[in-house]
Amino acid sequence: MNPTEQKKTTVSEAVKKHKEFLFPAVAMYYQEPIALVKGEGEYVWDDAGNRYLDCFGGVLTVSVGHANPRINTAIIEQTKTLQHTSALYANKPQSDLAEKLAEITPGDLKKSFFTSSGTEADDTAIMAAKLATGRGEIVVLRHSYSGRSATALSSVGHSTWRPLPSQVAGIVHARAPYCYRCPFGMTPDNCGAACAEDVRDVIETTTTGEIAAFMAEPIMGVGGFIVPPAGYFERVEEITRKHGGLFIADEVQTGWGRTGDKWFGIEHWDVKPDIITSAKGMGNGVPIGWTIATAAVADKFPGLTFATFGGNPVSMTAGLAVIKLIEEEDLRTNCKTVGDYFREKLEELKEKHQIIGDVRGMGLMQGIELVKNRETKEPAPEAVLKVFEETKRQGVLIGKGGLYGKVIRTGMMLNSTKANVDELIKALDAGFTLC
Ligand SMILES: Cc1ncc(COP(=O)(O)O)c(C=O)c1O
Repeated sequence: MNPTEQKKTTVSEAVKKHKEFLFPAVAMYYQEPIALVKGEGEYVWDDAGNRYLDCFGGVLTVSVGHANPRINTAIIEQTKTLQHTSALYANKPQSDLAEKLAEITPGDLKKSFFTSSGTEADDTAIMAAKLATGRGEIVVLRHSYSGRSATALSSVGHSTWRPLPSQVAGIVHARAPYCYRCPFGMTPDNCGAACAEDVRDVIETTTTGEIAAFMAEPIMGVGGFIVPPAGYFERVEEITRKHGGLFIADEVQTGWGRTGDKWFGIEHWDVKPDIITSAKGMGNGVPIGWTIATAAVADKFPGLTFATFGGNPVSMTAGLAVIKLIEEEDLRTNCKTVGDYFREKLEELKEKHQIIGDVRGMGLMQGIELVKNRETKEPAPEAVLKVFEETKRQGVLIGKGGLYGKVIRTGMMLNSTKANVDELIKALDAGFTLC
């Protein structure tokens, strides 16, 4: 949209109260934070009447458009019929969704456990892996993100997201497969996947040698869309199994076609996860968390376990409706097509603007790492903030990530068009021009 069409910003009552009555840790984007009041398709509106193209979807969570009429109708009908049951009774949306998930997940994944968030999904996966193997140690990656429970927080690989030290023993961090900033100073053509070998080294030197699981995001989301090189997960799976561990893929950000062509990000590598977790885009904004395991793993979960809102019929209906829509509108293909177009345009911006150090991602999960100098790769988080302010002025919302916020993250809707991409590119171009 033309920036001159933007209305004058008024001081938002909602923002004022947010600052006064919420924990300060609930930080908002922008020098003058905005309060959103309405969403429709790819667009949202703030309480001053300004419209924005939403290219972050509340952190890759609004996946098929704000207030999508198909999803909303399904949710409203279910809400009118039956809102809550608890897991003490079966409900058809939960049973149907579990059956569908067993069908679309790779390998032998079969049995689901539903919760309300990605944190709980990862906690469930770690618990299930420990119970199934009888072992207690988990290998995760530096730069990873798992959430904010005691277990998830102990897994997080960012000091900025760790307000407390590790609360759970036995979680160890291998080096990230971060090719742009290779922790071993190598390049993908000469490294022999040294980062995968680091998983072996970490197991052999910092654990008992026998682990419960390796857990990773196929593309590291909060880490700044770090894409592991070809062959990485295959080698890590081999090492993990040799040391008795299960393979857990955290698809909280990478699931549901986001990476293009496939339902799940891990399907771009030739591995067979024992457990997959997800949340976010699965419900298009409805709280949902999900852990699926092979029967061999799930059946070893002894005794009772319970999540009050797990399998809630309204969330389950939303999940089913999202999957149906992705299938019927062929959005996995759309993610690949529009994502490739977006990537091409981003590479053009990289040619034009020295501030761009790296462009990376898959499908409609594309990130841009900014640097002060392409030789030294000195991070440029201040430039990220500049681009944020300008894109907002241009009527476009984006996200950020990477340690200290040095990477611009975009997570456009899975049903975005090339015209939406053009609008985003124009705003980014204006932002980079100021850097
Ligand atoms: C990869 C990944 N796992 C887990 C989580 C935690 O999800 P939630 O915030 O829903 O608890 C997140 C959240 O951003 C995530 O990106």
